[in-house]
Amino acid sequence: TGFITMDPGFANTGSCKSAITFMDGEKGILRYRGYPIEQLAEHSSFREVAYLLINGELPTRKQITRFSVLLNDHSLIHEDMRHFFGNFPRQSHPMGILSSMVNALKSFYPYLADTEEEIDIIVTRLISKVRTLAAMSYKISRGHTVIYPRPDLSYCENFLNMMFDSPVRPYEIDPDVVHALSVFLILHGDHEQNCSTSAVRLVGSGRVNLYAAISAGIAALWGPLHGGANQAVIEMLGRIDRKEMTINEAVERAKDKNDPFRLMGFGHRVYKTYDPRTKIIKQVCDRLLTKLNINDSLLDIAQTLEDIAVNDEYFISHNLYPNIDFYSGIVLRAIGIPTSMFTVMFAIGRLPGWIAQWKESMEDPEWKLNRPRQIFTGPQIRDYVPIEKRT
Ligand code: CMC
Repeated sequence: TGFITMDPGFANTGSCKSAITFMDGEKGILRYRGYPIEQLAEHSSFREVAYLLINGELPTRKQITRFSVLLNDHSLIHEDMRHFFGNFPRQSHPMGILSSMVNALKSFYPYLADTEEEIDIIVTRLISKVRTLAAMSYKISRGHTVIYPRPDLSYCENFLNMMFDSPVRPYEIDPDVVHALSVFLILHGDHEQNCSTSAVRLVGSGRVNLYAAISAGIAALWGPLHGGANQAVIEMLGRIDRKEMTINEAVERAKDKNDPFRLMGFGHRVYKTYDPRTKIIKQVCDRLLTKLNINDSLLDIAQTLEDIAVNDEYFISHNLYPNIDFYSGIVLRAIGIPTSMFTVMFAIGRLPGWIAQWKESMEDPEWKLNRPRQIFTGPQIRDYVPIEKRT
């Protein structure tokens, strides 16, 4: 059986070779396919970044036009899928619904791809449909009329319109809101071998279909230590706002090793300095709230909490800085997205990254079924005891 090396949490284990995302946790660097995240957030769109992550290069005009046509052509979902939504209990978490619906796509669209062109289609279909499914689940959870995608709208515009338009109160698309959403999604695009991406690769390594692998990624993202942190941050800030806890109490509790409480939105497995995405989302947050004339008490609390924590010896010595989730929820609130949908928004953003990583793993000449080993700590061999002799 050979010698087994333990690496709890795989903190020092490289699970694959990848050409997609570069991270330097000491310096706070993040690049997709070589392009700095700061440049992509400033100049690109989510649609273009999705193309870049999946295909490796920024698209030409012709390529992006074809990508848009495919996104548009595949944006509707099978009408029978609507019945599914109606059968989830009203209080179901949207992440559970999304994960199930993505898995169900395989039943509605059973044909999977063989050629490169067909792979383009299933990939674009998934990106487009996940956005429609997310908006539809919101509308159905409210008992509202479902709004269909429109061919004249961009990816982000379409999502906002499907979320907030209504037959009696037309939604006015604000370019600043569209921009904020686009940057939010770009910043979540990929993050190398994080928990959900590793889930996609691991499940995918058994050669399941793309939908099943992505559904596993969505389930993995749900956890509060991973993508669920954006919801957990807002809930934490809300508790402080409702005076259930003071900022200082939150900081002190996070430092207490006998208390399981952690400062949500703080710390990262790879970044040991400021998360480069946090700087960008904070700017987006400030700009959007000013533009929309929103005075969010949670933003004031978050800023004070950050100031106290980053000057505190515990947080300094543990290299704990605010991560992207610390401010992203405030942006989503300003857009009008309900807190329960925050992690779904993360999933929409991370989808191109998951797809790119799945595609890369499928094309990897060194591909192997993922199958880690263990160090067995259970009982050694013993004889079966009949039930009447058990004590
Ligand atoms: N508050 C207080 N202490 C913390 C925190 C925190 N948020 N994060 C880590 N620590 C402490 C931890 O108690 C431990 O202390 P000690 O060494 O004294 O026992 C030390 O820092 C190392 O913690 P760890 O859990 O071994 O480190 P990790 O690399 O496994 O943790 C993390 C990464 C993200 C799970 C963790 O920082 C955390 O739980 N943060 C809060 C949840 C959160 O914001 N998650 C979103 C991550 S960014 C979005 C994404 O990409 O998923």
